[in-house]
Amino acid sequence: MARKAVKIAKPEGKLGILVPGMGAVATTFIAGVEAVRRGLALPIGSLTQMGTIRLGKRTEKRTPRIKDFVPLADLDDLAFAGWDVFPDTCYEAAMKAGVLERSLLDSVRDFLEGIRPMPAVFEQKFVKNLHGRNVKKGKTKMDLAEQVMDDIRRFKGATGASRLVMIWCGSTEVFLKPSAVHQSLSAFEKGLRQNSSEIAPSMIYAYAALKMGVPFANGAPNLTVDIPALLELARRHELPVCGKDFKTGQTLMKTIIAPGLKARLLGLRGWFSTNILGNRDGEVLDDPGSFRTKEESKLSALEYILQPELYPELYRDLYHKVRINYYPPRGDNKEGWDNLDIFGWLGYPMQIKIDFLCRDSILAAPIVLDLVLFLDLAQRCPEMARKGIQEWLSFYFKSPMCAPSLYPEHDLFIQLMKLKNTLRHLRGEEMITHLGLEYYD
Ligand SMILES: NC(=O)c1ccc[n+]([C@@H]2O[C@H](COP(=O)([O-])OP(=O)(O)OC[C@H]3O[C@@H](n4cnc5c(N)ncnc54)[C@H](O)[C@@H]3O)[C@@H](O)[C@H]2O)c1
Repeated sequence: MARKAVKIAKPEGKLGILVPGMGAVATTFIAGVEAVRRGLALPIGSLTQMGTIRLGKRTEKRTPRIKDFVPLADLDDLAFAGWDVFPDTCYEAAMKAGVLERSLLDSVRDFLEGIRPMPAVFEQKFVKNLHGRNVKKGKTKMDLAEQVMDDIRRFKGATGASRLVMIWCGSTEVFLKPSAVHQSLSAFEKGLRQNSSEIAPSMIYAYAALKMGVPFANGAPNLTVDIPALLELARRHELPVCGKDFKTGQTLMKTIIAPGLKARLLGLRGWFSTNILGNRDGEVLDDPGSFRTKEESKLSALEYILQPELYPELYRDLYHKVRINYYPPRGDNKEGWDNLDIFGWLGYPMQIKIDFLCRDSILAAPIVLDLVLFLDLAQRCPEMARKGIQEWLSFYFKSPMCAPSLYPEHDLFIQLMKLKNTLRHLRGEEMITHLGLEYYD
């Protein structure tokens, strides 16, 4: 039986993308979008650009591209702006990041040189290993939030964008536990006016975005928008938000492999993960405070996927260790090693070794693109926007945000099913659970 499609406004006009933190990920994303627009390369890794979605029964053979199925903004309609503590243009920052080849960057140089980061909201104690001078000044944190709101207004005016989204691609801030100032919007606003030391710069951007009616995504593991005060603001303005920490590299591998081992009821005694990376992210994560934030984010996935409370004989005694080592010669081309001590039939031990020579920002850039397009879809759909946290976007995150009464879903395949079923629901198509009987499916 046909279901009713959900109301979604058309993506008319330009979509402005605001990026606090114009480092390796952000510049790889922006340069990549421009290269794709000019027909120089393909948007590989992006579900919105290359993914398909099966509709109805298998025999119907209906498998449109996702971008033809739901009304997403066109790549030609994207405009970009950002903030950074360094004043380098997007071209200079991309050259320094060293992810994309010079020949590719030169072919979009004119475009990248037109994007110069606005002065950042920055506080040294939140990112110890970073020293930049392109920084805003203000008496209070509320002043700084208002300056960000002015930046947003100016960008909107200059580009004529009809809609905006903000995505944090800034460095990982030091570990912060939620405290009283984060518990309600009124406490948070008081904290902004009184310069509370518990309010991190990323929270100031998120506050400014939400005050301006702009959806917010968090690509780093910092709390940022994942606090009751800002969730209250998001719900009040019916704005979609999501986070935290892009799922790339090692955690992507973990969430691919762990569900497979669990599916075959193979036990795990140990999982040791270590990385070497030499980009600025690696340098920031060399500080124990920033690493702690990342560590929390990286550790949680296995626990949720393996459900040791349901399978104590298989996963109760798992020893899980994650290490990140800053090693400059490697630049953005990280190497992640995993050693898995597993056991099978009658408890016999086996080992799996994974050596992933990955390119972090190459894996992250398509995630940024999908997130901004899907968040924009959500802001045009009142049914989705009203929910605040967009759990259907968990697919993209290491520590997916979810309602306080729920636990996050980490299994990549369940996450993908949830994402696609959400899209089917939006268009009035039947959900697909792959549970149909063989004769009827
Ligand atoms: N690369 C990946 O695969 C990946 C995966 C998951 C998460 N992340 C996270 O994404 C973020 C960006 O990663 P990256 O590799 O681009 O790092 P990067 O160091 O190259 O870029 C981060 C940029 O943010 C800027 N910055 C820091 N604090 C700022 C502030 N308050 N305001 C404005 N700019 C600020 C820095 O100057 C830097 O240019 C990091 O937090 C990282 O942990 C990256």
